[in-house]
Amino acid sequence: MFWDLFFRKTSMVCIDVGYRNIKVVEVSVRKNNNIFIENYGIVSTPPDCIKNGAIYDVERVLRVIKSVIREEGMKAKNAKIIMSGTNIITRIYMIDKQEGESEDFTIKNSMPNFLPVDINNYRVDYKVLQTVRENNKEKYKVFVTAVPRKILESYIEVLQGLDLKPLAVDIPANSTAKFFNREIYTKDMDEYYSKRRNRHKNVESDTFAVLDFGSETTIVNFLKDRILEFNKVILSGSSNIDNHIANEMNISLQEAERLKKTYGMTRPTSVSKRDHVITYGKVSSFIERLVRQIAKCFEFYIERCYGSPISKIFIIGGGSQLSGLDQYLYSVFKVPVYPIGLLNLKGVELRKNLDREKLNYLINSVGISL
Ligand SMILES: Nc1ncnc2c1ncn2[C@@H]1O[C@H](COP(=O)(O)OP(=O)(O)OP(=O)(O)O)[C@@H](O)[C@H]1O
Ligand SMILES: [Mg+2]
Repeated sequence: MFWDLFFRKTSMVCIDVGYRNIKVVEVSVRKNNNIFIENYGIVSTPPDCIKNGAIYDVERVLRVIKSVIREEGMKAKNAKIIMSGTNIITRIYMIDKQEGESEDFTIKNSMPNFLPVDINNYRVDYKVLQTVRENNKEKYKVFVTAVPRKILESYIEVLQGLDLKPLAVDIPANSTAKFFNREIYTKDMDEYYSKRRNRHKNVESDTFAVLDFGSETTIVNFLKDRILEFNKVILSGSSNIDNHIANEMNISLQEAERLKKTYGMTRPTSVSKRDHVITYGKVSSFIERLVRQIAKCFEFYIERCYGSPISKIFIIGGGSQLSGLDQYLYSVFKVPVYPIGLLNLKGVELRKNLDREKLNYLINSVGISL
């Protein structure tokens, strides 16, 4: 029946094992690529379970994922998992076209010369973004990802241990790219930025940044015409702020995290309490350093990756909720900054009565469903 065909859907459990939180989302993808969130659960990642991007303790991770699936009553029979971005190599290369050779042969053959690793230990994938002409020579502009086989295997092990049909292991860069390959509602915020037009650059380009502020990592992605062209994982994240605050004030990490969430980058006044003043100082200096690293990515992308200027920035991940972060980024990069949750995206529906507060965390896990 036509009706059936149109609404037929694939249901799956999508899992994002972050350093801090494991997100498990039950998603149905309709024929027209609309996403329906059936259910989700977020649990703390058991301590010391991930190291250098690999799942170190598969058993313990499996146990918590299974308990979420059980407790939330998830019924999907398929599963996908997303790897941590740490240790994944993503690069753009220009590779000369060779007469009489197939595209695939030329590209695969030149990988060992380009990638700074022993490619036998890596699973290498590539995508040709475009063919360009430079100095009368045709070149492939290629986006390459290389994942250490050992790390990949640890994720496959988790997927296989779930008693569900394993569909895929994906990397955060792909997941983000798939997710942002759809229309994004930013109307309410656009009004805000249009009133301040004279304060920022009006960049006419289809290139935008997606910054994922995680607990141990910050991931920088640039998409041009909605296709991923740059990805870098900075090994520093929101939980580092907790350490700085805890050390300075001699308090627990939990208490430090609470202060970070309460005050963030909100500027203290002359009557503010001491903990506000200290938190603000620690948060601001950390974010300033992190943003300098992000700015280097912006420069690198333009100068070395044949990129075009970034016209706007989307921020995701738990750490993106830091109060005042969007305004700070706006003041540095001078382009509109949009904190993005699932609800900003076209073609995403939620089951009624689902707790909407934590949806912000789920973008990556939902992205892999596509
Ligand atoms: N309101 C808030 N203000 C500031 N930080 C917040 C807020 N809410 C959550 N965070 C921070 O977000 C982080 C968790 O985010 P997230 O779940 O995206 O990390 P993760 O995916 O586990 O980490 P990673 O991506 O590095 O593996 C924690 O450091 C937490 O303190
Ligand atoms: Mg994350």
